[in-house]
Formats: sequence, structure tokens, C-alpha cells
Amino acid sequence: MYGYSKPNVEFIKGYIENLEAIPDNSIDLIVSNCVVNLSPNKKDVFKEAYRVLKPGGEMYFSDVYSDRRIPEKLLHDPILHGECLSGALYWNDFLSLVKTVGFKSPRLVKDRPLSITNKDIEKLIGFAKFYSATYRLFKIAEFDNTDGEDYGLKIKYKGTIETCPDIFILDKENKFETGKEYNICGNTYRILNESRFRKHFEFYGNFEIHYGIMNNCSSIFPFNKEKCCMESENMNDMENNDNTYEDNYYYQYGPWDYNYYGYNQDNYYY
Ligand SMILES: C[S@@+](CC[C@H](N)C(=O)[O-])C[C@H]1O[C@@H](n2cnc3c(N)ncnc32)[C@H](O)[C@@H]1O
Repeated sequence: MYGYSKPNVEFIKGYIENLEAIPDNSIDLIVSNCVVNLSPNKKDVFKEAYRVLKPGGEMYFSDVYSDRRIPEKLLHDPILHGECLSGALYWNDFLSLVKTVGFKSPRLVKDRPLSITNKDIEKLIGFAKFYSATYRLFKIAEFDNTDGEDYGLKIKYKGTIETCPDIFILDKENKFETGKEYNICGNTYRILNESRFRKHFEFYGNFEIHYGIMNNCSSIFPFNKEKCCMESENMNDMENNDNTYEDNYYYQYGPWDYNYYGYNQDNYYY
């Protein structure tokens, strides 16, 4: 790197899916641009990256992704492969794959669509859309399985990263202005607290109480929260009475054979 009196760079030639020359838990940061799509064994790429990273280390890389799985017959087409298209991972397969090797909280930093301008290439693979995207993958041992778990945690960015005095951008969803407190999920807390970013943040809270999933996060609450609407629709299907709260309660928690036995005042508060 520049600015050092002695050279501090060592070159080791090899394949991205086989980093055998590099010891376990020895690397702070892996950077790569547009190589993973060319590898014939993408699972090993991420397994090897996970192995060589130190705890809290990061793989920060850009690559090409597709909006669907590329048909088998096109995967080895030399032109499409050389153009970094047919080797592109379907984005959702990429997310599943990196989670299986331990990178359970992949973070998208930025992305843009790629246009295919060559007519021949477009004819071959124009049914798919391609994107260039930058992801960060952190090696953190105790990640939750999904992002967005709420423990009431907060952080404040100190503004101490030299190149980011006003705002620190972790990923597309997490941008922290200097001096302002933010509520964050468990996985974001762990990323900031267990990586090289730790000294640049103040941390508040602990993992003692879990409050469910956070609002406005990529993990989605699966159940219908609109209790009244749903139940009043059921009520209308069943009978044309005036509905009360207790009626609704009964329909939700009462016996399923309501329709057969009719309304039973004694069962009302079951
Ligand atoms: C699209 S270029 C990107 C080069 C460079 N990273 C850049 O940003 O300019 C892809 C490079 O990956 C190399 N490559 C292809 N397969 C590879 C593999 N399995 N392991 C390591 N490098 C590979 C190619 O030789 C080529 O130099």
C-alpha cells in the first residue's frame, strides 16, 4: 500500500475458490470485483472466504447477479461466460448460498441494472435481467438467522472514520449520521460491535429482552395484524347479527363447529 517505507504487499497466485495458501482466521478484509461469477465452484468461494477471515472480518465485493436461474444449456457458453453473464448467480440463490456457509446477514450496499447492448448476446440471454451489485459479508459467530430481530438496541456513530466525517453508510438500509441515535436490529449491532467499526460507535442496550421483529425491515411479519377487519368478514359470512367485540372474540377462539351447533351463550367466554 502507498505511504509505507517498506512494501507491505504480498502477491499469492491462486484461484478464488481455493485459498489454501492462506491460514484460517488470518484476514481482516477481502475485496473482489467481478470474479465470483467466473468461478466454477461458488460454494467453495464463500466457504474459503469464511475460513480465512478473522472473526469480525468482512468480504466486500461486487459481482453480477441475474433475476432468474440461467438454463443449464447456457451456463458453459464461452461468450456468455466470458461476458460475466451466464455464470451470474440468481440473486436469491446467492443469498441462500452465503447463509449456508455462515454469512447469515448479507448486506447489499449498492446495485444497478446492466444493459446488454450486443444484439447476438441479447438474443441468447435477453430473457434474463442482470445487475451489478456490491455486498458486504461479515464473519460473525452469533448472528440471528434473520435480520430485523428487535432487542431495543441503539447505536450512535462518532464520525471518527476519516473519510466519513458526516455519515457512515453500512448498507442500503443502514446509514448513520454522526451524533444521532438509531434503533438497530441484533445483527446490525453485532456487525458494528464485533468488526473493525466498533471503535467508531457508541452502543446502548443488551440482548436480554427480545421484542419481536422490527418494523420497516426486510424480514416480514407473516401474520395478519388486522384482527377486526378479518373477523368482521367472518361474522358477515356466518350470520347477519350486529357484531360486538365479544362476538369477534368468540369466533376467533371458540369451537370450530360453531356453524353446526349454533350460538351458545355458555361458551361465550371460552
Ligand atoms: C472481469 S475480470 C475482473 C478483474 C479485476 N478484478 C477488475 O476489477 O478489473 C475477471 C478476472 O477474474 C479472473 N478469474 C477468472 N476465474 C477465476 C478464478 N476461478 N479464480 C480467480 N480469478 C479468476 C480472470 O482471469 C480475470 O482476470
